[in-house]
Amino acid sequence: MSAPPVAVVLAAGLGTRMRSPLAKVLHPLLGRPMVSWIVAALREAGVERVIVVVHHQEDQVRAALGDVEFARQEAPRGTGDALAAAAALLPADGPVVVTAGDTPLLSAASVRRLLREGAGPCSVASFVAAEPTGYGRIVRDGGVHIVEEAHCSPEERRIREVNSGMYRFEASFLREALPALCPHPPKGELYLTDLVQPGATVVDGFPAEDFLGVNDRAALAEARGLLRRRVNRAWALEGVDLADLDTIDIGAEVRLLPGAEVGAGTVLAGRCEIGGSVGPGCVLRDTVVEVGAHIEAGTIAEGAVVRAGAKVGPMARLRPGALIEEDAHVGNFVEVKNAVLHRGAKANHLAYIGDAEVGAAANVGAGTITCNYDGVRKNRTVIGARAFIGSNSALVAPVHIGEGAIVGAGSTVAEDVPADAIAVERAPLKVREGSAERLRARYRALAGKGKA
Ligand code: UD1
Ligand code: CA
Repeated sequence: MSAPPVAVVLAAGLGTRMRSPLAKVLHPLLGRPMVSWIVAALREAGVERVIVVVHHQEDQVRAALGDVEFARQEAPRGTGDALAAAAALLPADGPVVVTAGDTPLLSAASVRRLLREGAGPCSVASFVAAEPTGYGRIVRDGGVHIVEEAHCSPEERRIREVNSGMYRFEASFLREALPALCPHPPKGELYLTDLVQPGATVVDGFPAEDFLGVNDRAALAEARGLLRRRVNRAWALEGVDLADLDTIDIGAEVRLLPGAEVGAGTVLAGRCEIGGSVGPGCVLRDTVVEVGAHIEAGTIAEGAVVRAGAKVGPMARLRPGALIEEDAHVGNFVEVKNAVLHRGAKANHLAYIGDAEVGAAANVGAGTITCNYDGVRKNRTVIGARAFIGSNSALVAPVHIGEGAIVGAGSTVAEDVPADAIAVERAPLKVREGSAERLRARYRALAGKGKA
């Protein structure tokens, strides 16, 4: 039986053309660093040993990747030097897949195909680029070799078959060939492409999309668009109803159930689990939306749970620890933080519910605020089942409103209210008949004087 394949991912470069302080391979796509997408594709293709070559922001790259081995390139002196840095970790023989760390659309199918169709000591995967600028050209002149863009003659520049940056080598070949690479002036870089000599195998016809090289931020944005479409298409085929494939961002750790609905312009990040409907235009992170729950337009949620039959939004804000139980409603411009709305509770307009518990079927009127912060501590508000909190009430925590109690509109409640009591805190209303007209006349007279 042949030895299992080992993969090496070259991820030591800074990526000067990104014009970014962040190492190129750490730039995120759908919430995951670029290099993680490549490792995921290699794993999916069944490669068990993955070695990642690091240098720039080494610690962050190590932290971003779980279960891989690392090799350190002392000073990034080109792709050939990068692979040489991993030489000590390579097995004595068997296939070695080498790939760049900046082609995040690499698919498992392409890795499998190169492993299957690569032959001899050195095989390179090529594709035909609509726009070959920036890629090494595959020059077939009897034999085969690769010419980097910077060294191309005008005719070579017109070649559209290009180097994908993915190779399959025999480990024994690398042991001989890597130490023999020669530096290229002016920077003295060692090119991995120099290993591709006349007898090499070119496995051609790979999908261009898989090897979009992210060298600048325009390509990064393009890669995000392609990846978004790819991820969204896969979810749609799983039975998720997406408004479109282009404007919805679904992060790599998000889970959706068949029948879930996602509106245009919605971002689902972190560990969301979605069974109900979300959107359009919502941003959810680490949030659970059960089957039969509805999150309406413009809602922002983080670390929240929304149970079946509940309705949130439009334009609501759920912060960490918000639990919206079955059939509860959270309406427009309502903010909920570290609070439970029990079954059937409602806060339909303009309220702040923080560090609180709202009992089943209780009603929280428009403009109600739980005053949870006294400048030093966070205090809790507990509202009993079926209680009615009139509009514009301030509930000064810690405070307990009993079951079935009524708080009159505009009250400031700083003491507990017993069950089924009415609490009203309101200055007496003064009504002065006819005063409005007298006041207006006075204002008109003053305005007239001002003009004269
Ligand atoms: C390289 C290839 C080019 C190919 C293209 C495909 C060479 C000389 N050229 O060009 O033929 O068409 O990829 O995308 O190989 N890296 C290191 N250490 C270094 C230099 C680079 O680890 O010293 C890593 C980078 O982090 C990157 C990858 O190698 O992930 C490719 O390097 P990059 O500089 O982007 O090479 P290209 O110019 O794109
Ligand atoms: Ca590149």
